Amino acid sequence: MTKKPNIVAAGSLNMDLVLTMPRLPRMGETLQGDDIHYISGGKGANQAVGCARLGAAVQMIGAVGGDGFGQQIMERMRHFGVGTETIDVLPDASTGTAAILHTAGDNCIVIVPGANGRCTPEMIDRHSETIAGADSLIVQLEIPLPAVLTALRIAREAGVPTIFNPAPALPLLDEQIRLGDYFTPNETEFEFYCGSPAASEEELFQQMKAWRLRFPEQTLIVTRGKHGISYTAGDEIVTVAAPVVQVKDTTGAGDSFNAALCFGIASGWSLEETLPLAVKAASYSVTVFGAQDGMPSLSDLT
Ligand code: RIB
Repeated sequence: MTKKPNIVAAGSLNMDLVLTMPRLPRMGETLQGDDIHYISGGKGANQAVGCARLGAAVQMIGAVGGDGFGQQIMERMRHFGVGTETIDVLPDASTGTAAILHTAGDNCIVIVPGANGRCTPEMIDRHSETIAGADSLIVQLEIPLPAVLTALRIAREAGVPTIFNPAPALPLLDEQIRLGDYFTPNETEFEFYCGSPAASEEELFQQMKAWRLRFPEQTLIVTRGKHGISYTAGDEIVTVAAPVVQVKDTTGAGDSFNAALCFGIASGWSLEETLPLAVKAASYSVTVFGAQDGMPSLSDLT
């Protein structure tokens, strides 16, 4: 049997309060919703689960509060086979929550970080050996930046490949961006990092080429929803199209993509092998309700 790739995910764990409604309300309007669900989420946890579902051994670094939500989230992680010993339980903090206004085609999210906001560089540092021993590290921006950067620096020093999903978008210095071997914004986030919108696909590709000149050692992958992804391959921009699917829930599609990317890199696959699979994983995830329940196994993708 081949060895399982060994992945560390450092990031957020949230309880998602998903309110399902026929359409989003207008400002000042009261709207009757159809349903409410309490589902484990958070970009870090979703990506950890995504990697585990694909067959990786995953250790999650992060924090939950001492409340019932924290316990439920930890149990859910263990159910998916994610290692939770490296998750701090902070008795005096509330667990992170995300209020998600969900319609069939789209969603809006408000996050209250709670324990996620209390992740410190010291908490990450305690697990430096775990990070240094991984086949790849994946991070996002739902825990404080100093903690994210600590994880990235430990991995970089140890030669562990890093997937930096810069979401939600935050101001970053060039030297911080460089800590990601793979930098994976969605189109809106990429617009933020470039400082200007792209009016056409051609302009997007120009911006991506300019990014490549600025960060020549990094692979930039822009996720583009139903249009798939585009990435820098040397001086070229290559697009991997997404299959057409019946969309039920777009929450966590980006997380599913990033998890599969991380899995492929940790497995030693080439980008040409990994990216079509990762695009398929994201497309699969939108056909299932709930961010973590939509994460595919390898057999779902073949
Ligand atoms: O990427 C989707 C996730 O973003 C949700 O699970 C929610 O918790 C927010 O963090």
